[in-house]
Amino acid sequence: MSDPDIKEVVKEKYGEAALRVKSGGSSCCGASASSGCADPITSNLYEALQANEVPEEALLASLGCGNPTALAKLNPGEVVLDLGSGGGIDVLLSARRVGPTGKAYGLDMTDEMLALANENKRKAGAENVEFLRGEIEHIPLPNNSVDVIISNCVINLSADKDQVLREAFRVLKPGGRYAFQEMASGEAATSYFPLPWATEPSDSFLVSAEEMGSVLGECGFVAELFEDTSDTHLSRTIANATPSAQGQLGLSVFVDNLAQKAKNARRSLEENQVRLVRGIFRVSSAQ
Ligand SMILES: C[S@@+](CC[C@H](N)C(=O)[O-])C[C@H]1O[C@@H](n2cnc3c(N)ncnc32)[C@H](O)[C@@H]1O
Repeated sequence: MSDPDIKEVVKEKYGEAALRVKSGGSSCCGASASSGCADPITSNLYEALQANEVPEEALLASLGCGNPTALAKLNPGEVVLDLGSGGGIDVLLSARRVGPTGKAYGLDMTDEMLALANENKRKAGAENVEFLRGEIEHIPLPNNSVDVIISNCVINLSADKDQVLREAFRVLKPGGRYAFQEMASGEAATSYFPLPWATEPSDSFLVSAEEMGSVLGECGFVAELFEDTSDTHLSRTIANATPSAQGQLGLSVFVDNLAQKAKNARRSLEENQVRLVRGIFRVSSAQ
C-alpha cells in the first residue's frame, strides 16, 4: 500500500470509531478478561482517578496502549503536543497538568476524531486546549515551540517513522522531551490477523524496538528511559478479570469480531510477535 492509501485506510477506520463513540456505540462484551474480549493492548490504561478527570466520551474513545501523560511528568506552564490525539483523552489530561499558564495541543488527521475531541474539550471546559488538523509527518507548529510531545499507539500507524520523529525533534525546544507508549515488532513475524491496528499484514507497520531506538538516536534524541512493557500489559489484563470500571470501549469500536482481535493480540504478545514499549527521549538542552 502506498502512503496516501495507508492514510485513507487509517482515516476511515478511526473516523468510524469516532462516530461510533458519538452515537453511544456499545461494547459487545466490555474489556473484561472473563468475557473473552479482554484486549491486552488497550484495556485498563487509566487509573480511576485520572478517568474521572475527563468526559466519558473521551474515555470511551481511548484507543491508545498506555498512559504517556503519567510517564511525562508534566509541569505547570509547559506546552504539550499529543501526536494522533484521537478523542482527546491525553490532551485533556495534559491540559490539567500544565494548568492555565500552559497549553495542550492535539494533532490528528481524521475529521471525525477532531470533532469528537472538540466536543470533549467543550464538555471538559478546557480553555488551554487546541486540536490541530494535520499529519504527524508534517507537524503544523514552529521549530522549538513545544516542551513535551506525547504519543499513544500512533507512531505504529505511520509508514514513515523517520519523518514523524524528525518532525517531533524539530518542534521540541532544547531540553524538550518525548514520552511515548507505542507498539513494536517482536522476534517472530506477526502472524495472527485481524489485530487491533491491522486487518491484514499489509496494514501493519511495526518496527523493532531496536530500530525505533536507533531512529530516535539518529534524529538527535537521547534516551532517558526505554523499556518493554508487554508483560505488564498481559498481567494487567489477567488481573482485571472483572468488567472494567472504566467502561473503555477499546477494540469494540472497530468491528464486530472483537473477541478474535483480542485473542490475536494476546497470542501475538505472548509469542513475542508484538511488543509494547515505552520511553522518554530528550532533546539536549545545548541545541
Ligand atoms: C490508536 S488511535 C490513538 C488515539 C489517542 N492517542 C488515544 O490514546 O486514544 C490513533 C489516532 O491517530 C490518528 N492518526 C493515525 N495516523 C495519523 C497520521 N499520520 N497523522 C495524524 N493523525 C494520525 C488517527 O486518526 C487516530 O485518531
